[in-house]
Amino acid sequence: MGGPAGDGALRVLLLNAIDPEAQELYEDIGDRLRATGLDVGVIHETPAPRPDGAEPEWDVVVTNYRREDVATLAPVVVGGTPTPRPTTLGWLEDAGVATMDWALAATRWDVWRLFGRWDVDRLILKPSFTFGGQGVCVFGRRSVPRMRWNPELDVLCREVNPADGDVYKVEVMAGEVLLGWKSESPSIRELFADRRGKGIAGAYGERSRWDPPAALVEPMRALSAHATELGYGHMSVDLMQAPDGRFVAIELNSFSAAVWWTKQFDDFRERHAEAVRRLVSAIPAR
Ligand SMILES: Nc1ncnc2c1ncn2[C@@H]1O[C@H](COP(=O)(O)OP(=O)(O)O)[C@@H](O)[C@H]1O
Ligand SMILES: [Mg+2]
Repeated sequence: MGGPAGDGALRVLLLNAIDPEAQELYEDIGDRLRATGLDVGVIHETPAPRPDGAEPEWDVVVTNYRREDVATLAPVVVGGTPTPRPTTLGWLEDAGVATMDWALAATRWDVWRLFGRWDVDRLILKPSFTFGGQGVCVFGRRSVPRMRWNPELDVLCREVNPADGDVYKVEVMAGEVLLGWKSESPSIRELFADRRGKGIAGAYGERSRWDPPAALVEPMRALSAHATELGYGHMSVDLMQAPDGRFVAIELNSFSAAVWWTKQFDDFRERHAEAVRRLVSAIPAR
């Protein structure tokens, strides 16, 4: 895997740990990086941890999955880690990305009051550490007495736009936007016959490329720059469009961002390779 030792080139390991279908994508990104003089290995399975005291084989590992899985492989590891929704929504807001109306609730009374505060008949509960839309639950006042949630980690929110279920994604890495896209999706009203239910696969509809408005780009860069400092790699932000036309973030996917659709685009590959290049350029040569 590693190239000739002692030539001073940075040894970079790209780990594709989420998507067996994306092997060719990561091989291609590896080739693009080698063309810039880096010593790059690409693997598609998480290796065993290095024994205690063993010299790391790599200078940096960039993984699309959990950073802690490969913590022993290099002195610098870039990747994600499961992060609670309130934390990542806070990062978005701090970076200047508008978010949906959301709240934490300590008691059933707190939940109850949100219906009045937002003047709605239904709320959305988004548990932390759920994904793919599976954990998302739409409920009315009648469900409050028997609902269960984690008061510190699970987010309650208001529907962004009752007339529009489309979901937008902005993918970011190393301080830059890699790509934007849109998924056409039914609204909650169209999705659930009684307007309550569980599971909204909003990002799995008919997809097309979409350029985020200029006003979103700078905040997205700031968000990515902040996350990069914390060791995060490729991430995506999910957004929806409010009735007034503004785009508001509904979540940050801090790791395991999907590539099965975006891998078809050459500019995505090039920007992804450039992003890895920027990440490793911050690391001193041996
Ligand atoms: N505030 C909201 N208003 C309307 N629909 C929402 C809202 N938040 C989430 N959804 C819908 O639920 C889906 C899943 O929510 P999301 O926050 O992306 O969680 P995850 O993808 O981690 O399960 C979204 O793709 C979207 O279709
Ligand atoms: Mg999502």
